Amino acid sequence: MATIEEVLTPVRTLWKFDYGTHNKALRDLYEVAKKEQWNAATDVPWDREIDTSGDILDPRQDMFQDFDFVKALPDDQRTELSVRRAAWTLSQFLHGEQGALLCCGQLVEVVPDIDGKLYAATQVVDEARHVEVFYRYIQRLDRVYPIDPNLQAVINAILQADLWQMKCVGMQVIVEGLAMGSFKIMKEGTRDELLRKIVELTAMDEARHVSYGLIYMKDELPRMPDPDRERVEDFALMAVQTMVNSGRGSGGQSSQAALFADLDIDMAAAVTEVQEKMADPEFRAQRPNAFRDYVIPQLLRLGIISDRTAPQYREMGFEV
Ligand SMILES: [Fe+2]
Ligand SMILES: [Fe+2]
Repeated sequence: MATIEEVLTPVRTLWKFDYGTHNKALRDLYEVAKKEQWNAATDVPWDREIDTSGDILDPRQDMFQDFDFVKALPDDQRTELSVRRAAWTLSQFLHGEQGALLCCGQLVEVVPDIDGKLYAATQVVDEARHVEVFYRYIQRLDRVYPIDPNLQAVINAILQADLWQMKCVGMQVIVEGLAMGSFKIMKEGTRDELLRKIVELTAMDEARHVSYGLIYMKDELPRMPDPDRERVEDFALMAVQTMVNSGRGSGGQSSQAALFADLDIDMAAAVTEVQEKMADPEFRAQRPNAFRDYVIPQLLRLGIISDRTAPQYREMGFEV
């Protein structure tokens, strides 16, 4: 795997010489962020062993456990696959955390208010801590798997977006909402105490990051000229479609192929089963879903899902 990759981004950097507070809610959030800092090196019980005897991921999240091709595996291989699945999933969060670190560094430059810049600076440190904590955990569990191409495409689109409001909605509302929701689900379902502590601490930060997007965009979107606001709506739809479709089998599997290497799995049958189950609305409805439960409600609250784009969200199975 190449360890460095370049993306050219058009960043319109803004100085702000009015240092006063104009958005009190954002300034309050900045104060909260300063108080709630934690240290990934010392506030996590790293002396605990990882418990791989039970579920590392919430079984409701690791839907592979219900698949026939997984049930057919001998016990030791099933445990091995469950460890790899957890490491693969957490690797996506690790890469997502780096993506957040990069995007948030841009927010410091591109947002037009001092309140927004100061707050974004605290988030840069938060994301650095998340990169640190997930990397350390995954190394102990298994290994870091490559980034899913669809996830990377969405993060690159956010980094390359020309409107700062697209970056804010894409990262702070959609990606952060997905992270916060997923960590909350993981916290409820994991049997590993070390991971529970990590996602508990991380989810607290992510909740603040989502608040920033909601507070900022609630005021900003109504002031935008219609054509720009429509571009933000279309951008949000693209981001959701890319990630949802990835989870349902278009492209997502190829990046998971490494998980199945050297286990006795009939890959053709496995792929067919994954695609069938993921296309089944009933199968999906039984599981926690961070998009349905966390991201879509926030997009609705902000009015980003408009009459114009709502039909495409319905096509993905969301009630909007
Ligand atoms: Fe994060
Ligand atoms: Fe975050």
